[in-house]
Formats: sequence, structure tokens, C-alpha cells
Amino acid sequence: MPTEIQIQNIAQYVGQKVTIKGWLYASTRKGKLMFVRLRDGTGMVQGVAFRPEVGDDLFDLLKRTGQESSLIVTGEVRENERAPGLPKGFEVGIEAVEIVQSAEEYPITPKDHGVEFLMDHRHLWLRSSRQWAIMRIRTTIKRAIIDFLDQNGFVNIDTPIITPSAAEGTSNLFEVDFFEDKAYLAQTGQLYNEANIMAFGKVYCFGPTFRAEKSKTRRHLAEFWMVEPEMAFFDLDDLIDFEEAFVTYIVQTTLKERRAELEFLGRDLAPLENVTGSFPRISYDDAIERIHKIREETDDPELKEQLKIEWGDDFGSPHETELTKQFDKPVFVYGYPTQVKAFYMEPWPGRPEVCKSVDLLAPEGYGEVIGGSERMSDPELLIQAIKNHELPLENYDWYIDLRKYGSVPHSGFGLGLERTVAWICGIDHIRQTSPFPRTLNRKTP
Ligand code: 4AD
Ligand code: MG
Repeated sequence: MPTEIQIQNIAQYVGQKVTIKGWLYASTRKGKLMFVRLRDGTGMVQGVAFRPEVGDDLFDLLKRTGQESSLIVTGEVRENERAPGLPKGFEVGIEAVEIVQSAEEYPITPKDHGVEFLMDHRHLWLRSSRQWAIMRIRTTIKRAIIDFLDQNGFVNIDTPIITPSAAEGTSNLFEVDFFEDKAYLAQTGQLYNEANIMAFGKVYCFGPTFRAEKSKTRRHLAEFWMVEPEMAFFDLDDLIDFEEAFVTYIVQTTLKERRAELEFLGRDLAPLENVTGSFPRISYDDAIERIHKIREETDDPELKEQLKIEWGDDFGSPHETELTKQFDKPVFVYGYPTQVKAFYMEPWPGRPEVCKSVDLLAPEGYGEVIGGSERMSDPELLIQAIKNHELPLENYDWYIDLRKYGSVPHSGFGLGLERTVAWICGIDHIRQTSPFPRTLNRKTP
């Protein structure tokens, strides 16, 4: 009896007869030789059929079987260093084939398709090797995030998705009809995390997050996953140290466990290998000066226009991109102007126009992957900040309570999963990092 195996473990079965259950990814014929690329969800391997060996019936059956037909293949595993696949270097000498369902005219062919066509066929496109590799990397990044937090004493406490009010500005809220009352899909779990740390010390939530982003960019989704750790007795410096260790762990774990997939994507691994040790930390003031200098020195009129900025403005992607080009590691920018950040951030001591916020910008033009801050602890200041942001105070009374009953200095951050996947995979558009992305003009499939 052949052993039923997963392709990812194929190296253990060289010289043995095995069965693989999967799909036909592609086939090519060279005279009496037929090469069939098989995928089973865990990997990809080349199957070889030689007409005089397998007989006419089996050979003709393989010839007729269309791309993405489901099938069960039996044969002997051989080493062949030139054989393509994931893992590379193995092939199966086909002896028997059972067709489970014969597929005809699979819409995604090896020719070039436009990205909108592929997105319309996302339910099928996910089977393509690049998309498959990206999702495997995404899964590993998620696992690394959870492992790191679990190993560091965090408790995973879930936060609600239906929320009564805004936390990250009111311009991008998704409204839901909540029993004839208004509610909103969560932009963040942070405010609830702040309640949870006073019960559990260090917590995180990790789940889907919603922003009605009305612009089309390479960095924004309407639904994305965010991990949000929050820590009691933690100030801004503690936060930055922690984020550094966290991001280093995520990148290094992915490099270790998903090197084959990263190489398959053609990712340059050197910049990822460099994500260790300490990352540069610069203030917003310093960042603005650097951007002014880049603007002065560039001969490119378009870039000059894009980089226009004054103290007090938020960064756009061009600012982040140019700034990160100056460093070969992720860079922390701290101390943003209060007016561009959310209402809950602790003011900088002696400089109320600045807040104790910190963003982490990824290198190679990827920009902001983390936003975080120390949280405001004074209840009176907080009430004032809520009013300044024109938020309905009555929805925040519980949040203000947290400042009255055993308040402590505390901090936290949110890391966007899809932006992190895009950066680690080295792909230029965030839509390929989500299995079924939701954007301004897409909610299907
Ligand atoms: O900077 P943001 O808005 O911060 C918060 O939501 C805080 N409440 C987090 C916290 O302190 N607990 O979002 C955090 C991160 C961003 O750095 C980015 O990686 C990601 O979430 N993000 C998005 N990713 C994809 N599409 C969008 N529309 C995103 N908006 C934010
Ligand atoms: Mg942000």
C-alpha cells in the first residue's frame, strides 16, 4: 500500500511509493514524456509519466485532464535537483491516476491577466503559486505574532466589533443599523484594551478592523486585521523597546520558517535579515527637517511638489517613503503634533502641541506598519480632548472611569497585519495580502 503524504514532507519519502491527493496545476508534453505539476495545498511537485512505462490509456487520460482538475496520483518519489516545485528537487514517477473531477477551461491560464480580472476570480486566483505563497507567509506572521505575545505574558482578550462611537476619527466609520439605533464597526479595540489591562496587566486583541477609507491607495483596505497589544505600567520608551523586539521576532521567524516561499516570490532577503538589533528613533521635528532637506536637494519637480509639508501636517506616503530611504532598518518616528493624532494620546511634558505617539515606518518604501502611543491619564485633560474632537462625551464615560479608579501610566500600539505581510513579502499592493480583500470598489467575491 502506498503511503498518503503531504507534498511539504516529500523529502522523507525518497524511494517510496506514495499517494498524493490534489489538483493539476499545469501540464506539458514532450513527445512520450508528460510533466504534470501537482499541488496539494501544502506544496507543489512535478509528476512524470513516460508513455512506454505507463501505457497508452493512462498517458491519454493525463493528456485529456484539464488544468485544476482534482486527482489522486500514485507513484515513486525520486530526487531530481532540476525539478521545479515547493519544496524544490523532487519528482514523482507516475504509476496510477484517479481523476476526482475533471475541470474544463479553467479561467486563469498561464497567459497574463489584468489584476481586476484576477481579483474578480479571487476564489480561484488563491490557488496560483504566488498567491498561495503570500497566504502561507501571512499565516506564519500571524502565528509569530501570537507566539511572541503569549511567550511574553500577554492575555488575549477579545474586544467588540460593534461599537457605539469612534476612536480613530469620525471620517472613516462604517455605520450599522443596531436595532434602530446607530452603531459602528470597530476601527480599533484599543479603548477596550485599556479597560482590560486594569484587570489583566498585559493584553492583546487580534481581529478584523474596519475603516471606510474613501481613497484608493496601495496601503489601505476597508477591512484589515490588526493586532493591538496594550500594557499597564508602560511608558513611551518601554513601548518603543517592546515594538522593536516584537517586529524583530516576527521578521526573523518568517525568514526561518518561510524562506522557500519568500525566495519563490523573489524577495530580496538581505533587508529582512537586517531587521535586528536596535532601530533608529527620530522625532517628528527631526523628520520634518530631513524632509525639508530632501525637498531642497531634489531636482525632481514632481517629488518637490509631493514633499511639500509644514510642521503640524501629517505625513503622506511620499514623505514616509523618502524618509525611510535614509535608513536600512525600520525607523521609529515619535512625538507627532497632537492635532494629527487621535484624542487619547498623552501630551509631551511641557509641549502640549506634541503627543507621546510613535509610528514605526518600514523600510523600502513600505511606510507605517505600526501606530501607537502612551495614553492620556488625566481625566480632566481627557474630557477636554474628547470635546475638542467633537465626540459625544456620554459615550466615553466608561473610558474616563478608567482614569479615576487605579489609573496607571500605560501604552499600546496596533500593527496592521496586511501592511506587514506586504512589506515582508515585498509586494507593492496591499490587496494581494488579504484572501478576499475589501476596498472602496470591491466587496466580491
Ligand atoms: O495608526 P492606527 O490608526 O492606530 C490605531 O488604530 C490605534 N488604536 C492602535 C493602538 O494603539 N492600539 O492603525 C494602526 C495600524 C497602522 O499602522 C496600519 O498598519 C494599520 O493599522 N492600518 C491599516 N491597514 C490597512 N488598511 C487600513 N485602512 C489601515 N488603517 C490602519
Ligand atoms: Mg496611524
